Amino acid sequence: MKHQQPRMGSNRTGVQMSPLDARRMHEQHVELAPAAPQSPASAATSDMRARYVADAGPLGSVPPPGSVKGVLNTGVALISGNSPQLLLDKLGERLAFERTATRILDMLITKVRSTRGDDGEALVPLDQLLTMREQEAGHFALVARCIEELGGDSSAQTPGGDLVGMESAGLLQVICDPRTTIVQSLHALLISEMADHYGWEILVALAATQKHTAMQREFELALEREAAHLQYVKAWFERHTLGAPTAPEFPH
Ligand SMILES: [Fe+2]
Repeated sequence: MKHQQPRMGSNRTGVQMSPLDARRMHEQHVELAPAAPQSPASAATSDMRARYVADAGPLGSVPPPGSVKGVLNTGVALISGNSPQLLLDKLGERLAFERTATRILDMLITKVRSTRGDDGEALVPLDQLLTMREQEAGHFALVARCIEELGGDSSAQTPGGDLVGMESAGLLQVICDPRTTIVQSLHALLISEMADHYGWEILVALAATQKHTAMQREFELALEREAAHLQYVKAWFERHTLGAPTAPEFPH
């Protein structure tokens, strides 16, 4: 059984293992710091990065609608002062995030199942994880449908989709790592749910601003479920780390 609490072990990474080197490093730092706040090496790195920033293009673009209906929708939106590409970008962002969120939950479900009989299910009830996973997959399908309704291509990666794909890759890595415990995986899931919740808040606000009333109502329902996800993951995490009371009943 994998211990959920961190265990004591040998120090493999800290400076206490090499006091002489630690003292020399400190002395050098003190010597360099007053005269040169930024060392020549870090200044060269900054210069190089600044050149990359100046030369780089944007993080992709939002493809124009491929259907006649989409072109008409976009034209109407532009005339009425809305920004259809912003909504399509934000939808592409949620689409990418919900895809990763579903994968994150798939991995956590595997991890909980692998510790069945130990304490995995005691920490995170499997049936509630499965419900949450289905809801994330449902949100993915909802966003894909909304993109298509606007005449967009749900298989195209928008700049926002690229952005959150990169952001959430680290969270997925944490949960895929076979060494991480369920509680450590819950920490990554917590970050995912916090970002997801805020993402839906923004999407609701944007749909309201652009007067997509039917979409707004569907997004509000998704936001309600995301609020429950966040409440649940926080309760699971706190129950283990603080011994907080059991989480409330999971809404379906
Ligand atoms: Fe969620």
